[in-house]
Amino acid sequence: MKIGVIGAGSVGVGVCNYLLTLGSVSELILLDKNLERAEGEAFDFRHTAALTFSKNTHLVPTDDYLTLIGADIVVITAGAQIKQGQTRVDLAEINSQIGVDIAKEVERVAPNATLIVVSNPCDIVAHFIATNTKFPRSKVISSGCVIDTARLMSIVANRVNLDPKNVFGYVLGEHGSNCFTPKSLISIAGQPADYYCDTHHIDRICADELLESVKQAGYEIFKRKQNTTHGIAASVFRIIQAIMINERSVLPIATLLNGEYGLHDVVLSVPTVVGKNGAEAVLSHPFTEEEMATLKQIANNVDEVVAQIAAKTGLDK
Ligand SMILES: NC(=O)c1ccc[n+]([C@@H]2O[C@H](COP(=O)([O-])OP(=O)(O)OC[C@H]3O[C@@H](n4cnc5c(N)ncnc54)[C@H](O)[C@@H]3O)[C@@H](O)[C@H]2O)c1
Repeated sequence: MKIGVIGAGSVGVGVCNYLLTLGSVSELILLDKNLERAEGEAFDFRHTAALTFSKNTHLVPTDDYLTLIGADIVVITAGAQIKQGQTRVDLAEINSQIGVDIAKEVERVAPNATLIVVSNPCDIVAHFIATNTKFPRSKVISSGCVIDTARLMSIVANRVNLDPKNVFGYVLGEHGSNCFTPKSLISIAGQPADYYCDTHHIDRICADELLESVKQAGYEIFKRKQNTTHGIAASVFRIIQAIMINERSVLPIATLLNGEYGLHDVVLSVPTVVGKNGAEAVLSHPFTEEEMATLKQIANNVDEVVAQIAAKTGLDK
């Protein structure tokens, strides 16, 4: 399998680290507009191949899209970070334009690739890539709420002192602050969360407080180290693995919806089957009326930002 990572910054390098250590990738292309940066990271990584646990992945640093010819998966992490004084719409405008320019380059050399969009706001950037290229909707995946869901699992697990993998739940909607968690879906060791807490004499989990903690988690990291890397890199690796080995795992990734939940042409995270063809099916979930209303409100919020950016940039909506 040939994988490309665009952007040799903190997130791109984190993704490479997972792919080189845990993945089975024959060719890994690290592309950055700053060639020296990509080279520096690749040369550094190369020495890891001499160590026994490492696979001998062919790692190529580049600033030339031709190196991506025939790539199966391309991860887009290139873009700006939010700066002081900038609004979310300002960042969305910059990164949507960068994302579309990159995706068009990738389309020329790897039209069958599945794209995983990480650059923030990832759902908006993925929206414009899907509407401004010929990649099928199922192959333009925003990493969406996979990271937010991992945060939810970790927070609950910490409360009940269990392995996060024994907690089940989803954060859905838009990655970041415009998201929600259906409380009915949260379970611990296969048991409804309230039942588990009651029988273990632990205070019940308040879904609103939990969601607030999930939303705060990214800010708490960003405040301290001015980026977030490990969680998002692991989340991206999780998505790649599902595609690479055709897992058909259900993950809260985001794609451009096509009538599911009555929503059209909006990129939102909902439970989605991920396999070798990318987002293979969006699952229809029996949300309550209130949850459906929340999802619709989230979709309206995303639509508004998309409309503003389309008007400013001229990108197809
Ligand atoms: N979706 C998520 O959950 C999530 C989490 C963390 C970060 N992010 C986003 O990921 C992006 C990258 O974050 P980071 O910490 O790695 O940033 P970074 O500044 O460390 O790295 C960005 C890299 O992109 C490169 N770049 C910029 N424009 C480019 C272009 N047009 N072509 C090729 N390379 C280009 C830069 O040279 C730089 O090396 C940001 O948009 C950030 O907000 C998303």
